[in-house]
Amino acid sequence: MGKGVIIQASSRSDGDTNCIVTVLKKKTDFDVIDLNQKHIGHFDYKFKNKNDDFKPLFYEITEKYNTIIFATPIYWYTMSGLLKVFLDRISDFLYDEKDIGRRLRKMKMGIVSSSNENMVFDGFAMPFEKSAEYLGMKYLGHLHTWIQKGIIPNEVMQSIEAYTNKKLLANV
Ligand SMILES: Cc1cc2nc3c(=O)[nH]c(=O)nc-3n(C[C@H](O)[C@H](O)[C@H](O)COP(=O)(O)O)c2cc1C
Repeated sequence: MGKGVIIQASSRSDGDTNCIVTVLKKKTDFDVIDLNQKHIGHFDYKFKNKNDDFKPLFYEITEKYNTIIFATPIYWYTMSGLLKVFLDRISDFLYDEKDIGRRLRKMKMGIVSSSNENMVFDGFAMPFEKSAEYLGMKYLGHLHTWIQKGIIPNEVMQSIEAYTNKKLLANV
């Protein structure tokens, strides 16, 4: 079994999503990449942001790992802007260096969302599921987590444990 990486996509590095990521890291021993510490510009048809942090990061991720877990807070009912920009930028590798983009075909994608409520609306996971399908990645499913006043409820700890064992560490 190869190694996985958790891509933390919160607009604060030490917020609620990071609390969940810390638990996930402990349970999986996956590496963590904090998108909030990277400089990644929007997708541009003329690739004007091609010299920012995205390209070396994408090379690293697709070289070193077989599983990507996107950990995102819920902002306005959907993924964070940081994560949406990251996904948009994968398009760079659909135009150029397609062989590097195709490395994703051997990889798996899981989604962990976080908010302060046990509530997530229908349709949240669809862009991930469809993107995984489009990119040829195996989709491992979506786990929603929530934090109340900095505390992770027991119920959430149990669901993280189950998701980790059934989806991330099992040879699925
Ligand atoms: C810009 C913004 C939009 C948000 N939109 C939602 C939302 O649509 N649904 C929700 O349940 N929580 C929403 N929240 C609350 C966050 O999901 C919640 O506080 C989360 O735990 C924050 O994680 P973070 O500390 O990693 O940013 C929003 C917070 C922010 C800052």
